[in-house]
Amino acid sequence: MRFDPWNPDFVAHPYDAYAELRRDAPVSYFEPTGQWLISRYADVNALLRDRRLGRAYLHTATHEEFGREPEPEFQEPFWRVVRAGMLDVEPPVHTRLRRLVSRAFTPRMVESLRPRVRAIAAGLVDTFVEKGGGDLIAEVAEPLPVTVIADMLGVPEADRPLLRPWSADICGMYELNPSPEAQHTAVRAADEFAGYLRGLARERASRPGEDLISALAQIDELTEDELVGTCVLLLNAGHEATVNVTGNGWWSLFRNPAELTRLREDRSLLPTAVEELMRWDTPLQMFERWVLEDIEVHGTRIPRGSEVALLFGSANRDPEVFADPDRLDVGRADNPHISFGAGIHFCLGAPLARIELIESFGALLDRADRLELLREPEWKPGYVIRGLHSLDLAVA
Ligand code: HEM
Repeated sequence: MRFDPWNPDFVAHPYDAYAELRRDAPVSYFEPTGQWLISRYADVNALLRDRRLGRAYLHTATHEEFGREPEPEFQEPFWRVVRAGMLDVEPPVHTRLRRLVSRAFTPRMVESLRPRVRAIAAGLVDTFVEKGGGDLIAEVAEPLPVTVIADMLGVPEADRPLLRPWSADICGMYELNPSPEAQHTAVRAADEFAGYLRGLARERASRPGEDLISALAQIDELTEDELVGTCVLLLNAGHEATVNVTGNGWWSLFRNPAELTRLREDRSLLPTAVEELMRWDTPLQMFERWVLEDIEVHGTRIPRGSEVALLFGSANRDPEVFADPDRLDVGRADNPHISFGAGIHFCLGAPLARIELIESFGALLDRADRLELLREPEWKPGYVIRGLHSLDLAVA
């Protein structure tokens, strides 16, 4: 099967198409999105670190100079939020925002969250086991990271049910060629989410608590839009991929029962297992970059103004880097997977995500000796942010 991100069969199993691309066409132009697909690990890794590319271009050029249509006016509330967060800006703004926010994500700060993460995971898994199972995604995978990041930011408990739908709707815009309906839904969600956070930030500016929104609200260097953009980014990035690693990861273990048994028998493999699950079935399959200065990849000139699509899922199966790449090996020692990115936008939350995943996989292994998959799960239609609808399990 060829690269076809709108085809459910491709989304379910993109890895054969990737192997073909890596072998025959490591740089190839994909007409339907007008992007250059980059499939080999070495190239993806190098381009993520290459300052001639960026997640944004408006700091160096206008839409017209890049041969792009300005975004339609109705999308303004969406871009206002997105372009105020660190992920969609480049230095020097990126450097300033990342420096301010990374204070909350130092290794010491994040490690201090482990007992709380462990307790939340234990509570969710206990309930799941007591009732004999259910949908692991809705009942464990989602609430764990949402609770952790909402606690960190200080979102009141009563408002938390709002976060998941807002985030999911916003993420619709990150898929390739989103439909007009998905665009309108994303814009509405971004606007509502921003309004909500603006209110919360103003409240915390006058009556600060112990939370991250209060801390950010005290920083003069941060504009209100930047504060809102940062919180939306943290709330979305802070759970979407973690949910999908949990779902995809368990589904990978069910498809590789010998590896599940190996992990059950040797819990010290949890850290390498989590890395391997992120590599083997990558939750974020693709990230895009704008070409800010002409580049050349394998003799193909890619001019300024182009867009490249870096295929993380393909890079993570590259035999040049990973021995026997299609094999799931929960003990894989040498695993420089690219699922957290590379370069200046390398995932700020990686240490927290690792703790969440180790604690949730560990809690389920500890509390459920026998887990049975009730039916083969279905993939959601999204390709870029790739995850399962549900994962229905029985606990024996
Ligand atoms: C397994 C879970 C996660 C995965 C696979 C993941 C993956 C990524 C990737 C690939 C990027 C870089 C995107 C690019 O270069 O274009 C990124 C950026 C980011 N992630 Fe994560 N992430 C995860 C969890 C988290 C968590 C838990 C948080 C926060 C609590 C978080 C916060 C961020 C932020 C703030 C950025 C932007 C960094 C920057 O632009 O400098 N992520 N993430």
